[in-house]
Amino acid sequence: MNTIKDAKFIKEAFDFGTAVPVFKKVIWLDKKINKATLLCSALGYYEAYLNSQRVGKFIFAPGWTSYGKRLQYQEYDVTHLMEECNVLEIAVGNGMRFHKNRHENYESITCNDSALIAAVKVEYADGTEAFIPTDSTWECAKSNILESSVYNGETVDFTFDTDETFAVKELDDVNKDILIPTEGEETREMATLSAVKLITTPKGETVIDFGQNLTGYVEWVVPQRKGAEFTIYHAEILDKDGNFYTENLRAAKAQVHVTSDGNERVYKPHFSFMGFRYIKLEGFEKDEIDIENFKAIVVFSNMKRTGYFACGHDLIQQLYENIVWGQRGNFLDVPTDCPQRDERLGWTGDAQVFARTASTTYRTDKFFKKWLNDLAADQHEDGGIPHVCPDLAWDSYGSSAWADAMVIVPYWVYRTYGNPRIIKDNFEAMKKWILFMESKGSQRGLFDTHDHHFGDWLSLDAGDEATGGLTDKFLIGTAFFAYSNSLFIEMGKVIGEDMSYFEELYELTVKKYREVYLNTGKTEHETQTANVLALYFNLTDNPEREAEKLVKDIEACGHLKTGFVGTPYLLHTLTKIGRTDLAYKLLFRKEFPSWLFPVTRGATTMWERWDGMKKDGSFATPEMNSFNHYAYGSVGDWLYTTVAGIDSDFNEPAYKHIIFRPLPAKELGYAKSRILTENGEIISSWEYTGNGDECKFSFTIPNGSHATLYLDDEEYEFESGTYTTVFEYKGF
Ligand code: BGC
Repeated sequence: MNTIKDAKFIKEAFDFGTAVPVFKKVIWLDKKINKATLLCSALGYYEAYLNSQRVGKFIFAPGWTSYGKRLQYQEYDVTHLMEECNVLEIAVGNGMRFHKNRHENYESITCNDSALIAAVKVEYADGTEAFIPTDSTWECAKSNILESSVYNGETVDFTFDTDETFAVKELDDVNKDILIPTEGEETREMATLSAVKLITTPKGETVIDFGQNLTGYVEWVVPQRKGAEFTIYHAEILDKDGNFYTENLRAAKAQVHVTSDGNERVYKPHFSFMGFRYIKLEGFEKDEIDIENFKAIVVFSNMKRTGYFACGHDLIQQLYENIVWGQRGNFLDVPTDCPQRDERLGWTGDAQVFARTASTTYRTDKFFKKWLNDLAADQHEDGGIPHVCPDLAWDSYGSSAWADAMVIVPYWVYRTYGNPRIIKDNFEAMKKWILFMESKGSQRGLFDTHDHHFGDWLSLDAGDEATGGLTDKFLIGTAFFAYSNSLFIEMGKVIGEDMSYFEELYELTVKKYREVYLNTGKTEHETQTANVLALYFNLTDNPEREAEKLVKDIEACGHLKTGFVGTPYLLHTLTKIGRTDLAYKLLFRKEFPSWLFPVTRGATTMWERWDGMKKDGSFATPEMNSFNHYAYGSVGDWLYTTVAGIDSDFNEPAYKHIIFRPLPAKELGYAKSRILTENGEIISSWEYTGNGDECKFSFTIPNGSHATLYLDDEEYEFESGTYTTVFEYKGF
């Protein structure tokens, strides 16, 4: 039986410069067929057409993996597209292999050529078969895509004549053992948004607003003016004067240039995407601009939507929508930090922080399975985990809270969907990471000699432009050492591993943590994040003391100061210590710094920084100021588990045992969450009836699940069904 590995990697035999090559093969079928299949992969991104019909819906195929080790191929049933004489055309763009911006070194560690590997398998009705692999009999043409880059955009010239074909050459030195069938979700065009308004900015720029910051590209009708050149620029935000602002894209050009051939053409980029809400038009005559002709296409991984949240407070509702858009904008095959600037990398810390919320809102098991396999493949010999995955071979790696993605992400995937496979597949990599931390201590039990930590990234306790925060990085290191190990122990037990070594190590780590970091009086040990970690990770033997410090700090300044490390646990911790009132205060706060401050400034996605836009409307440093970064969207956990009150239980995962613990706040009026599980739909809702403290609660438990409800200090057990109760709610 032939496989894709029987085909050859091919590339154009002559230098096409920056133009995108299209590989071609004419396939004659002289007998009736039962089935035809296209197998395809590329070094770069490919787009396949059979008889001018697009094959499949996967954009940016074959996907982004740790290319040196793993390269996906796809299998498409193309029976319905086949005729007697067939023209197969496959364009190959640079994709993430040729990543020529700030992180330039990526190219050198993968391969130097873009290339195609493909095969068509035909099963004839008479039982015979044919196999048509890529080889030197294929031909190649220069496409009208003269330049294409993920970050910079695309240049297309429709006047360019593409008829001439050239020879191809076979590449024998590309390792075919790395080819694997698709593991992740396909990236697809998931939604189309219409333009909402046309603006002329104070500078006189012609700008279209799509009303939503998003990730994708614009599909537009190219005006029929032969030889005319049109340029579209992309931006997430307008500056305080209302002008088009692109400085925060750093080196990413995010521009599209198209030359019209005078024919009616609808164009959208092939191998590029942008993070944008606004586009600026150049080269258009006034009467050539009709906003109906511009559509924003939203692209992300084809995950099933599973979680919903609604409440009676407009700003909180918008915050929730922004969290969902943050996931749409950054779950593009790989969980990325941002979609707009010259970065768009699989930052481990960001993924770790957001994994729980993400896995409630969308079904992520397939998406994360692929990424975790890459993460394990990119793990260093000594157990260190890279900062970004796919890895860019940086010198530094193994940052606490970033590298812990190796443990924390599988934990949430297992707890949410219940398949122990994710634990088995990642067990060795998790173990190596825990042992790495163990090996990097001044004493066993501390993770305090390894110096590559990002710290409490973008927290507010170390001054305006500081990034790593005030909290002692080794405190964070040791706290995550204990926390990740505790999750690892739980997971190991699920698959029947002997975890006694790690249990002993855990006890020791907690002991050392207490000795070295608790109650030292040092400011870097007493930050909001330090107290949150001590409480949330169960590291303190004196929770009242840490709780008091945390509350005092918040009350003194009236706001949060936490960064990437502390923020995901902040509200959970306040609930844990019985101060849900204070958690709501932080949630409802509208002034900077808070979750709602961006919402009051019109944000439609989560910002990277609490002060992305400052109080006076100016921006934080363009060096690092994304308006579509999901990390602070991790507050979504608290909306699901505490506001609406639906939580899962590790011991009966996949919501077989549901924990309902709603903690209503009157300002919200009502809250409701629905979560789709394998057993069916879970619903929790509550609503103040308008009669004083009277609140109506309602819960739905699907067949095959059971629930424990915690309400006003009481505990109730429920089997499947729908239950409603109205009573005077005492509050928290
Ligand atoms: C990214 C972050 C990331 C950080 C590392 C930034 O450039 O955008 O989200 O986690 O670097 O500290």
